[in-house]
Amino acid sequence: MGNLLEIKNLTVEYNSLNKEKGAAVVAVNNVSLEIREGETYALAGESGCGKSTLAKAITKLVTPKSGEILFLGQDIFKQTKQEKKNYPKEVQMVFQNPYSSLNPKMKIGDILKEPLDINTDLSAKKKKNAIFEILQEVGLQENCIDLYPHEFSGGQRQRIAIARTLILKPKLIIADEPVSALDASIQAQIINLLKDLKRQKKLTILFISHDLNVIRYLADRVGIMYFGKLIEENTTGNIFMYPKEEYTKTLLDSAPILH
Ligand SMILES: Nc1ncnc2c1ncn2[C@@H]1O[C@H](COP(=O)(O)OP(=O)(O)OP(=O)(O)O)[C@@H](O)[C@H]1O
Ligand SMILES: [Mg+2]
Repeated sequence: MGNLLEIKNLTVEYNSLNKEKGAAVVAVNNVSLEIREGETYALAGESGCGKSTLAKAITKLVTPKSGEILFLGQDIFKQTKQEKKNYPKEVQMVFQNPYSSLNPKMKIGDILKEPLDINTDLSAKKKKNAIFEILQEVGLQENCIDLYPHEFSGGQRQRIAIARTLILKPKLIIADEPVSALDASIQAQIINLLKDLKRQKKLTILFISHDLNVIRYLADRVGIMYFGKLIEENTTGNIFMYPKEEYTKTLLDSAPILH
């Protein structure tokens, strides 16, 4: 399996809110990692360690201070016009909160059609077919298209968000805490859906979570972040069985169901 994404010595800083006194916040500090085609790579670590910032750098929502991000070998910050246009189709993000990530004033059919309108030249008929196909794949009925987000439960809304993410057939999905806003019973359904979709569509997933039980179930490899640094990385089996760093052991100890 080749690398889909290579992150090399990535550093991302935020300006301190207090410009006079504060030093810059180093949210991601010299991180290097690779995500292979077809794998689920999980990032774990406590709140504020830089997981979302790393995801934002990959989706170009923040600009790194230094380092490189290569997607299929190509530096994402040095793309040609055409590559820039294509990139949002290749890399899509699922957010934590399905309530705020769906426009409440749009019907589901329009929410799913929007990315196709922006990024493709498909005919109206093909767009409609793509919408019905993706709804079926995420376990929703066709008549959803005429309803609004508030008419759905949280779990169903996350299914809609996942459908919107997948409709452009991206190569990489970044899921940043995709289930932590959901009830426990619904979490399992969404995690299983992601697992099924990954297998069916041979997706590559960057999965961000502080829930190690979910990571153990879903991920092939795991990276542990601590204060902006990637301090340990291993296959899922090995990281749980043979954690090397003290911090990783502490993190595992704080996930009680595993022990
Ligand atoms: N827009 C911003 N401006 C200034 N500092 C920020 C900004 N966004 C994040 N930070 C800081 O950068 C660091 C990393 O934040 P980040 O959101 O990447 O962490 P995280 O691992 O995703 O945390 P969580 O698990 O709570 O989502 C934190 O210290 C945070 O306070
Ligand atoms: Mg975060």
